[in-house]
Amino acid sequence: MELIGKRIRIIPMEIEHAYLMREWGVHENPLLFDYNLPPLSDEEIEEWYHYKTRGYNRKYYSVFNKENRLIGYMGIKYIRKILKESTLGIVFDPNYINKGYGTESILTFLDYYFNKLNMRKMYLDVAKFNKRAIRCYEKCGFSIVNMYIDEFFDQNLDFKNPYFLKEQSSFVLKNGKVYNYIYKMKIDKNTYLKKREEIDTKQNRD
Ligand SMILES: CC(C)(COP(=O)(O)OP(=O)(O)OC[C@H]1O[C@@H](n2cnc3c(N)ncnc32)[C@H](O)[C@@H]1OP(=O)(O)O)[C@@H](O)C(=O)NCCC(=O)NCCS
Repeated sequence: MELIGKRIRIIPMEIEHAYLMREWGVHENPLLFDYNLPPLSDEEIEEWYHYKTRGYNRKYYSVFNKENRLIGYMGIKYIRKILKESTLGIVFDPNYINKGYGTESILTFLDYYFNKLNMRKMYLDVAKFNKRAIRCYEKCGFSIVNMYIDEFFDQNLDFKNPYFLKEQSSFVLKNGKVYNYIYKMKIDKNTYLKKREEIDTKQNRD
């Protein structure tokens, strides 16, 4: 399987791709540290790769740009074949974010997901503070269907950090613990098809 977009190419993730991720940049925003790949040994990379790719209910893919550089990975997890739904995960090299690659990759993947795999719905979970990701998902046609609260991955977060201060309303501090709001977003096949038409019409006009 190979999915081709204007500036990207999506193929199933291979172990070699996982090694390349060690060359990625780092997020300076501490709220996104969970997406920085920590320094990992070859063995740990292999473990990570096997965790991501093993199992019948998840599938992971690598995203390359036209210069054949690995710029991100994406996957579907919690695949429910009978209900024809799953949950999206996507992480790009911090050096390649905010350049439209995320939106293009998701739209390219959705075409395959709905039209070839014949799936019906896709969900995702995104932190309320992650405005860039939310904007990207909305551009692809996802909308918020629910909100819940979860423990934040870093319980030692610096409350004076400007990134935190800016997004304070997305957090709840209770009984000495740090929680944050998470949005559940969803797209179904009809919404995707309408969004696609809207995007194609706009592109033909411009
Ligand atoms: C989330 C992610 C995949 C999105 O991909 P991307 O290539 O960066 O996204 P795009 O460039 O296609 O779109 C980003 C949009 O957000 C907008 N944006 C950026 N920062 C923003 C902010 N602080 N507030 C609001 N919008 C913002 C951009 O302007 C762009 O919208 P536009 O095209 O209307 O101008 C990528 O940023 C990433 O990997 N981030 C780190 C990991 C992560 O957060 N993963 C998601 C977990 S749910």
